[in-house]
Parts: sequence; structure tokens; C-alpha cells
Amino acid sequence: MKWHKVTYPHNIPLREGRAVTVAGEEIAIFNLGEEFVAVDNRCPHQGGPLADGIVTGEKVVCPLHSWRVCLRTGSILKPAIPVRTSVYPARVKDGIIEVQMPS
Ligand code: FES
Repeated sequence: MKWHKVTYPHNIPLREGRAVTVAGEEIAIFNLGEEFVAVDNRCPHQGGPLADGIVTGEKVVCPLHSWRVCLRTGSILKPAIPVRTSVYPARVKDGIIEVQMPS
């Protein structure tokens, strides 16, 4: 695993997400205010772009069919099914958002 530099914090407005490609994977970075979180950008339902969803609390609502995905665990909260999307550690270091992913 390696920390990858992604973007500056001001590029992701509060309570919004942005899609980025890191290590060949399309992920969604969200600004939750006190921290940034990173998940697979493809909704586990039918691949909807989670970065374009509405953020409510620590969840994002998929823009296609409104599944709710927990941005901390990747769990699907609504409908309540045992499916999970990938989450990745994220941090701000030296003024840049970094995400930990395989090299
Ligand atoms: S693709 Fe996300 S809810 Fe259907």
C-alpha cells in the first residue's frame, strides 16, 4: 500500500464529492468538513457515480437509484443489504489530500 497525492483540499467543496483516478482506480473523495474520506466511485448497485451524489451526514445518496452508502465503512445503509463498497484511508499531508491504495 502506498499514499498517493490526489488534490488540494480547496478543490473539494464542503459536503461534496469529486471523482479522481488513483492507481488506475476511479475513486470518490468527499469533504465531510472535519476530514476527507475516499470510496470506490462506482455504486455497488449498478455503477452509479457516487461522487455526484448528495452527502447527508456521513452518507452519500447515489444519484441513480438513491441507495445510501456509508462513507466511513462502505456499507449499504438503504436498502439494508450485506453489500459493501471499498473505502480507502485518506489524509491531508503538507496541504495535499492523499489516499492510501495499492501501488
Ligand atoms: S446505481 Fe446506485 S443506486 Fe443504482
